[in-house]
Amino acid sequence: MKHLLAPSLLAADFANLQRDIELVNASDADWFHLDVMDGVFVPNISFGMPVIEAIARHAKKPLDVHLMIVDPDRYIQVFADLGSNVLTVHAEACTHLHRTLQAIRAAGMKAGVALNPHTPVSVLSEVLPELDLVCLMSVNPGFGGQKFIERTYEKTRQMRALLNEAGCTAHIEIDGGVNAENAAALYAAGADVLVAGSSTFRAADPHAAIRAMKG
Ligand code: DX5
Ligand code: ZN
Repeated sequence: MKHLLAPSLLAADFANLQRDIELVNASDADWFHLDVMDGVFVPNISFGMPVIEAIARHAKKPLDVHLMIVDPDRYIQVFADLGSNVLTVHAEACTHLHRTLQAIRAAGMKAGVALNPHTPVSVLSEVLPELDLVCLMSVNPGFGGQKFIERTYEKTRQMRALLNEAGCTAHIEIDGGVNAENAAALYAAGADVLVAGSSTFRAADPHAAIRAMKG
């Protein structure tokens, strides 16, 4: 499986956002990971539509939008219109997950589901055909710069086995605390997309950090 690296702009310098977007454009990274937080589903508020619209004007790689918001169905079309390529909702935030995933695809985007650390992979067993990406949270969502939860390796293996049994080739993305030390083990466990915020933008040499995490 091809390894994909998605720097999270949550760790970018928001006063120099265009500079940091150009850094990703010029790097070996594959996607832009955009973390949208509503202060309800998670205890933090990040950025919303006007900022994403500005990002989309400069970004030359796909936008991987991670919604940490309650009732995300309200905004599916809005995020499609903003140019999102992958739209990920949280299983814990969706009462009718099957319908939500169908609506994301119908709006022309890849459909992703994120699972909090406490949520077992089995909650996805009935929606595998509707999925293009599973995002396994390797920290509790809401903040960048947190410590990686080691249990994620086993959960990644379980998720890849579940997908394989169903003949499903969905991406497995790992989000939170990813760095050059754990990247190889995450790919080996079955992940193919790694999100990296702090370890990209706080690195002395972001280009080298990105290359190291792509493996
Ligand atoms: C956390 C976000 C992550 C975050 C990762 O709620 O979903 O995408 O930006 O940041 P790092 O890579 O610094 O752990
Ligand atoms: Zn994220």
